[in-house]
Amino acid sequence: VGKSQSFQRVLREAMGVANTDSTVLLTGETGTGKELIAQTIHNLSDRFKNPFVPINCGAIPETLLESELFGHSKGAFTGAHRKKVGLFARANGGTIFLDEIGEAPQSVQVKLLRAIETKEVIPLGTTIPQKVDVRVITATNKDLMKEVEEGNFRKDLYFRINVIPIHLPPLRERVEDIPLLVQYFLTKFQGDGSSGLKGILPSTMSMMLEYDWPGNIRELENRIERALIFSKGSSIAPADMFPEKFETSGQEEEVDEEFDAITDYSTAKASFEKRYIISLMHKCKGNISQVARIAGRHRPEIYKMIRKYKINPRDFKSSE
Ligand SMILES: Nc1ncnc2c1ncn2[C@@H]1O[C@H](COP(=O)(O)OP(=O)(O)OP(=O)(O)O)[C@@H](O)[C@H]1O
Ligand SMILES: [Mg+2]
Repeated sequence: VGKSQSFQRVLREAMGVANTDSTVLLTGETGTGKELIAQTIHNLSDRFKNPFVPINCGAIPETLLESELFGHSKGAFTGAHRKKVGLFARANGGTIFLDEIGEAPQSVQVKLLRAIETKEVIPLGTTIPQKVDVRVITATNKDLMKEVEEGNFRKDLYFRINVIPIHLPPLRERVEDIPLLVQYFLTKFQGDGSSGLKGILPSTMSMMLEYDWPGNIRELENRIERALIFSKGSSIAPADMFPEKFETSGQEEEVDEEFDAITDYSTAKASFEKRYIISLMHKCKGNISQVARIAGRHRPEIYKMIRKYKINPRDFKSSE
């Protein structure tokens, strides 16, 4: 979803490369839709009937990543009880999506480069290369050029995967898409349920347009899902969408609950005054002079309050 120029550009680029076998590098912050675009490129290509195989290179330990990608033979290493078909082989005829490629360790980087260049993989424990016909799409939220300069990422692999770069803009740079996305997710989470669809208050929308969305579209999606669960009214209020901005400490929350039932100012003030005096009476074990000192009030005023709220100083005398 998106009508902003920057997003339309992404879509045009994705459509343009779909029917080539060029390697694509998707860049962009977390949650900007890299995986969605990778899947879109695959779906638009003539490989769409064959598998789209995603793998997150950052989520798998180095020792396992290689056998995940390329497979291994039975007995290739301790624990390799049976032969394993790698993801490249499983994606045959389709697309492999190497997510967080910047996290791939150097040892795997070498083998990836080889696999892309020769269109062959060598499963661990074997010497016989296996032909694979796989389109490679990669993604990263790191600055790979910087990783290359710092020696963490192989330059040759960088140039090999960066044939067609597509950059996904962060949500704060495509603010005009927010209302569309909001509508999209509101419908997604409520179905087209005919009875009473929840909307969003204009004040909530203003805050959403101002917010900088560090988690991008994923964050927007999650916030809407949560707001729908927590909102009590017929529309989503700012506090439902951004509870952390309206949060109060535990103690204040208790007071808030009590104040919920009170509407006019004088009742609210009296309620506070009573709680305040009772708490001081506890602290001072019923010693009026001390209460007056802490409160910064004259004793007659404290006496007046005690009478007003029917507080008995003796109740606090021996209280601990
Ligand atoms: N243009 C869009 N329209 C609707 N939903 C979108 C769009 N872009 C992304 N999403 C949704 O936002 C969520 C995050 O997208 P995705 O997983 O593709 O992000 P990512 O860039 O791969 O993030 P990460 O770097 O954290 O893996 C997904 O649920 C996806 O469906
Ligand atoms: Mg992703």
